[in-house]
Amino acid sequence: MKQQVRELFPTPLWVLDIPPSDAAPFNAKLRDEIEKIISPRPNVPSGSNWQTPHDLHTRPAFADFTKLVEISARSVAQFLNVERYPMMITGCWANINPPSAYHPTHNHPNNYLSGVYYVAVPEAGPDLIFQDPRPSLIMPWTGKLSPLTANASAEQAVPGRMIIFPSWLRHHVPSNEGTSERISISFNLMFRNFAETAASPRWKATAGQE
Ligand SMILES: [Fe+2]
Repeated sequence: MKQQVRELFPTPLWVLDIPPSDAAPFNAKLRDEIEKIISPRPNVPSGSNWQTPHDLHTRPAFADFTKLVEISARSVAQFLNVERYPMMITGCWANINPPSAYHPTHNHPNNYLSGVYYVAVPEAGPDLIFQDPRPSLIMPWTGKLSPLTANASAEQAVPGRMIIFPSWLRHHVPSNEGTSERISISFNLMFRNFAETAASPRWKATAGQE
């Protein structure tokens, strides 16, 4: 008997890596600019992370980073065949996770794509963990995790790496078990003119229909 398998409704992640020789100076510059915004450190409780304002994409000091996000977003839009609908960055901010800080599960409402770029990551990680969006709680142990049987997936956080994902996909960052700060820059992308260009009905009226 012929068996076919169709994997329906895939959840894509895009992982983009800058070559390490380029990432090191780029991250050093980003870190300097972030330091200017976050120094002196606020007195946050142990275990807490904190963020810069969400307007980094409007600041000249982050122009190169903004360009990188825009180029990456275009390539993702091409992959999804939605490049006819221009996207814009709606928010961009740095996250600082000191040792023991974590970021609880969340998603990014009112956006189409979201992403994160790693500026500094301790030896011990932590990774970025995505949760299975499917509602099933039945996941027999097969001896080996696979996208078909796992209920979460870890993406390694590496300096110079950008991860782009659907904004609805829930994710979290476990506790920073390292001895240095984990610094990342997050961003959201949404269609610039979605209501004008993409939200109208795509069917044609026929006689007798309301
Ligand atoms: Fe997030």
